[in-house]
Parts: sequence; structure tokens; C-alpha cells
Amino acid sequence: MVGAGHVGAMTALRLAESDLFSEVALVDVVPGLAAGLALDMWHGAGLYGFSTRLSGSDDLVALAGAEYIVITAGKPRQPGMSRTDLTAVNAEIMTSVCRGIRTHAPNSTLVIVSNPLEEMTHLAAQQTGFPEERVLGMAGVLDSARFCALVGLTGKARPQEVRAVALGSHGPEMVIPLSQAFVGDRPIESMFDAETLEALVERARESGGEVVKLLQKGSAYFSPAESAVTMVRAMVRDSGEVIAACVRSRGAYGAVDTRVGLPVRLHRRGLKEIVPLALRPAEQQALQDAAARIAARIAELPVPC
Ligand code: LAC
Repeated sequence: MVGAGHVGAMTALRLAESDLFSEVALVDVVPGLAAGLALDMWHGAGLYGFSTRLSGSDDLVALAGAEYIVITAGKPRQPGMSRTDLTAVNAEIMTSVCRGIRTHAPNSTLVIVSNPLEEMTHLAAQQTGFPEERVLGMAGVLDSARFCALVGLTGKARPQEVRAVALGSHGPEMVIPLSQAFVGDRPIESMFDAETLEALVERARESGGEVVKLLQKGSAYFSPAESAVTMVRAMVRDSGEVIAACVRSRGAYGAVDTRVGLPVRLHRRGLKEIVPLALRPAEQQALQDAAARIAARIAELPVPC
């Protein structure tokens, strides 16, 4: 874990709790923070019931030998900020982190959580030089989960019965294709009217901001952490499930070649394949538009020195 803020710490704990790993190492630039948190979590090992070792350091050398690296390093949003407002400061942090990773953990697979998500995923791939299958952005799992949770609030379904994939960007260009959303085996459109569904999609799109506004300081962390954990677990378990993740598109869905949220399957080393879903023409168009806007933002990224 790079970054021991709320998302990093919660991800570390949940990964340790799954007891699938020999070690979870937490790294943060703030001296003592990662070591303190790791020790605190380890003290609870017997109570939580895990034997995964936890360690903390302020040096990226602690990542040596890591198979998976979740990067949460960077500034979170404050009320009134868009994710794009974080580009300059987080690009600098991401660049230096990725150079360290290239040196210390050249065989790792990355899960990027830092915002703005698509830009940071692109930068991580560029700065590590890793094969694109080993650089994934976490957003679709979170945005899909938020949509499912909001459907749950209607009282007509439990969140865990709802299936949906949030594609496009982790932001205003988020696309939740309703043709691919189900409650159990029932198409979601047979259960709700179009206006209700549009309101649910819109609220899912704005959910990160809704939490930022309520917290007044920092951004969401429970559901983002669990989303990163879900991706790592999908890889470790080679689960084959279809999830949404930010990956290099390479012409998929007729979109420009960029980093965009797409339905994928993961395997132990990262991206296994992009999954072709039968989207409606309007959904596919929305995805293509999202990719074009992301590509334009990526083209404006500051050139790292
Ligand atoms: C959110 C941040 C993690 O959506 O982007 O809450």
C-alpha cells in the first residue's frame, strides 16, 4: 500500500483480514505513520483472526518483492473541489512514487486509487513502463457499488442483489448502462421508471462529492478501500468475474485509445481481457464521448521531469 491515509489504512486492514497474503506493507512519506498504523493493526491480528504480517515504512524500498501495489498516495478533495483540481499536485506525487516502484518492485501489478483517476492511471503506466495489463485504475467497482447501494435505498432490492457496471470516467463522464443492470435476473428497467433510474445514476455519479461535502475534510474511504480490496482479491483468486476497471482501451467499444473504465476480467497478473457487453448505441456513444474527454485531459497532463 502506498499512502497510509484513510483509504490506504483501511485497504491494508481489509487485505490483512482476508488472510490471503504473507505480508501487507504500508508506506507513507510521513515518518512513523505507516509503521504506527501497521503495528496497531497487527496488535489486533488475533482478534480479527488473521496471520498476514503487517509492516510500515516511510521508504518505498519496503515494497521490494510486492506482487500487488495499491497506490492511494496524493491529496484528497476538499469541499468545492473537482477531482481534476488535484491533477498538478498528485501528478508530482504519482511520478515520484512510480519511479520508486520501478526500482523496488518491477514485477508488481498496480491498482491506482489516487485522483483524478484516469490521469493518474495513465501516469503510473507511463512512469513505471509496466505492461499495460499490470496497471489498473480503481473506480468502476466503487461507482458500480454506489449505484447498487442507492438502488438498495429504494427498498425494492438489497444492494447485493443488484448488478451494474459503471464505465467511462470516475467523474462527470461516468456511464452506467441500464441495459446491463439487473436485480437478480430481472432487468432493472422492468422495476423502475426511467426518471427514477436517471436520478439514481446521477446520484451515483455525484456520490464522491456528496461524501466530501458532508465530511468537510477529506473524501470517502470505506467504500473506496473495499473496492480496491475487491480488485486485488479478484486477481489473487483468479475469480473470472466481470468488474469495471480503468484500463488501456486500445480501440475497445470503438473508443479512442486511452485509459477509461471498461468491463474486464482480471487474473493473477492483472488484466485478463476486456469484456464485450452488448451496449445500446446510445450507451456506446456515451462511452466513446467519455473516452474522448479523458484523452483530452490526459493530453494536457504536465510533463514530468
Ligand atoms: C470518491 C473518491 C475516492 O469517489 O474519488 O469518493
